Amino acid sequence: MIYSKIAGTGSYIPEHILTNQDLEKIVETNDAWIQSRTGIRQRHVRAENQLTSDLALLAAQRAMAAAVVTPSDVDLLIVATTTPDMVFPSTACFLQAKLGMTGGAAFDVQAVCTGFVYALAIADKFIRSGGSKCALVVGAETFTNLLDWDDRNTCVLFGDGAGAVVLRPSDAPGIYSTHLHSDGRYANKLFVPGSVCGGKATGSPTVKMDGGSVFRFAVKVLDQVCREALEANHLNVSEVDWLVPHQANIRIIESTALKMGIDKSRVIVTVGDHGNTSAASIPLALDLAVRDGRIKPGQPVLLAGVGGGFTWGSALIRM
Ligand code: UT7
Repeated sequence: MIYSKIAGTGSYIPEHILTNQDLEKIVETNDAWIQSRTGIRQRHVRAENQLTSDLALLAAQRAMAAAVVTPSDVDLLIVATTTPDMVFPSTACFLQAKLGMTGGAAFDVQAVCTGFVYALAIADKFIRSGGSKCALVVGAETFTNLLDWDDRNTCVLFGDGAGAVVLRPSDAPGIYSTHLHSDGRYANKLFVPGSVCGGKATGSPTVKMDGGSVFRFAVKVLDQVCREALEANHLNVSEVDWLVPHQANIRIIESTALKMGIDKSRVIVTVGDHGNTSAASIPLALDLAVRDGRIKPGQPVLLAGVGGGFTWGSALIRM
């Protein structure tokens, strides 16, 4: 039996920091409201010339260095993003060129904030089937491109960043299971209603969100999808060392931990420093906790995401 295993992690966040105090000067909001309702203190914003593939490049290079693989080893490259460099080609193809890769398959996955979990699940299936010997899976976003800086309901929530993992085949897990879900009936709760038609951008290119509905749905399904993963693997919640949830709002994260009976000390939280980086949030949080020594080799870790679509999903892994 072939399993896939994470051989290395990496991440990158742009240098420029936008604090809540900075936002107070742009829109009618205040630090106390943002912190108490979301847990966010600051977010990182791309430099003017930085594209999603540039953020992805630095995260990918760090993950490859940690896994001790070169671009020519990689035969599958998946980028999860909601903010591609262009309509096409895929951001994965731009990243492939920036890495100096000329072989393998490269494509994007679009599942908004659940995108990294979706991409990881796909790469896991490639590796398990023998279709890939070395997969690079990236979550990268320049989500601030999609913000209306006059809309305080959304512009305070998001930031830019990238995270990546390298997956290699292994005799033992690795990735125990992935569970993916979506329900398109909720498309209008969190969306960007813009498109390109007849050579012109049409509609609105900024995020629209029914925050309350997203909040309630997220709290419900994150708990459900985590329990689904544990049950599928006959594990008790106490047997998982870490929960790495999507980083949208500290209240969503804490409610999920409470419902599951996981102590806060076993939950990786980066939302305060990064805001919601959409598809980048889970691999970014994972990499930070690996590098600061909290997440150690051999430990079981539960990844869980939820986002526009709605989409939601989990991956139960052993590091
Ligand atoms: O990856 C998934 C992406 N999205 C999410 O996860 C978002 C999920 N939703 C949430 O995180 C929360 O619903 C929000 C943080 C967006 C909003 O928190 P809330 O506790 O649900 O606040 P609310 O929408 O009920 O608004 C409460 C008040 C309103 O004022 P009134 O009507 O009570 O006078 C808002 O106008 O807070 C006001 N408000 C703000 N005030 C200061 C909304 N945004 C702001 C703001 N600064 N930025």
